[in-house]
Amino acid sequence: MLRVGIIGCGDIANFNILGYLRSQETELVAVCDTDLIKAGKKLERWGLRTVPIYEEFKKMIDREDLDIVEILTPHHLHAPMTEYCAKAGVPGISVQKPMAHTITDCDYMIRVCAEEKVKLKLFENFRFYPVYLRAKELLEQGVIGEPLNFRINTIGMGGPGMPVEMNALLWRGDYDKCGGGRWIYDDGIHKFSMALWLMDQERVDELYGWIDYFSTVMDAPSFMYWKYPSKKENDPPKFGSMQFTLAPNVYYPSNYYDCDEFIEISGTKGMMWLNQCTSGGNIIAKAPQYPPIVVYSDGEVKVYGEDLPRDWRYSFINSTEHFINAMLKGNDPIYTGEQGKNLSIFAKMPFISTQQNRIVGWDEITPETEQNGSCNVIEPVKIDGGIFRKYLKSIRMDLKKGIQEGLTHKEFKYQYEL
Ligand SMILES: NC(=O)c1ccc[n+]([C@@H]2O[C@H](COP(=O)([O-])OP(=O)(O)OC[C@H]3O[C@@H](n4cnc5c(N)ncnc54)[C@H](O)[C@@H]3O)[C@@H](O)[C@H]2O)c1
Repeated sequence: MLRVGIIGCGDIANFNILGYLRSQETELVAVCDTDLIKAGKKLERWGLRTVPIYEEFKKMIDREDLDIVEILTPHHLHAPMTEYCAKAGVPGISVQKPMAHTITDCDYMIRVCAEEKVKLKLFENFRFYPVYLRAKELLEQGVIGEPLNFRINTIGMGGPGMPVEMNALLWRGDYDKCGGGRWIYDDGIHKFSMALWLMDQERVDELYGWIDYFSTVMDAPSFMYWKYPSKKENDPPKFGSMQFTLAPNVYYPSNYYDCDEFIEISGTKGMMWLNQCTSGGNIIAKAPQYPPIVVYSDGEVKVYGEDLPRDWRYSFINSTEHFINAMLKGNDPIYTGEQGKNLSIFAKMPFISTQQNRIVGWDEITPETEQNGSCNVIEPVKIDGGIFRKYLKSIRMDLKKGIQEGLTHKEFKYQYEL
């Protein structure tokens, strides 16, 4: 039985725990959070009331002889916590995305885990979403030929969705803790992951970005586009683009965060559309116009993935199961530390491009340029918590008004129960 401990019992812990609750090969033996009451409530919710709670993570690591630790804390804590766990001999470390708030820290985490012979997993769950896994299989079968262009739009909508704690929003607004904005650098890691994995790429060459700091509190609306490297001579040029759209008045029930993703991939033989991820399973998923995967090729339109669970939680369960297997069999995790760092490099590029109003090259984003200040992400303005609260209140008021004016606010239940 692998002994598992969790550091950070915030919002995402509710999803990282799912794979362990189902596993016959692991046991949650301890949790840690500086907020002991919150940690207690989480254990209650998970049906694990008797599991010990620590306030100080070092004590938990020193006492519990863990095989796996899940690091689910704000980004600036990922590196120091990884370092401590690795040096204390925890053999498996799973860190929620993004790997760290700086590239310098990502590099350090990779180095320390290599020196201590520790398996380091960067936990990026979209990579395990059942619909995206099927899409990847189809792409590998060549259903649209060679992928040429990737496009993803993330739309932040008005919910109702899962409640998120104010503290969780506030640390994301602090660039010294988050490492960038809450859309592009935090949520965006998933989207950069899809932009590389689905296109069978490890990196991009260069990127141009434009970020409108709406109400000073968010790095959206924003838009960016990039060029992938050529892998061989005579390769057709390959590009991608990403948008973050804010539409806070759209009524869009979700079991999770108030957003959703829509992807389009064009290839040499056809096109593929992927509808939804985060809010998969809601009203849109039930409409015949929005099947999970649509492919056009050879004069025919085909639909795939309707048999799959369109519930975001499966991306977490699959990712955790993958890590447990990697630990048991000695395989590399998905993602490795190097791949995790690549996602952080990609996600820093739009900020540097916007700050310096120019195209930015992948190789420019390094620990050295971060430290000498030539490519260091700078917070555009000090985020004011008051403005953020006002913004969230206005969303709630709009939604309430909409419901009074006739929007149907139906209760929304999970499509697939565990
Ligand atoms: N995969 C996803 O889709 C996804 C979604 C949301 C968040 N995340 C990631 O998960 C991580 C946590 O995010 P969250 O939304 O759960 O944040 P959160 O603020 O809800 O939770 C963080 C928790 O860490 C605790 N904490 C802070 N400092 C600590 C310390 N020194 N020792 C112990 N506990 C400490 C806080 O009390 C809090 O409970 C981040 O890396 C975030 O980017 C991933």
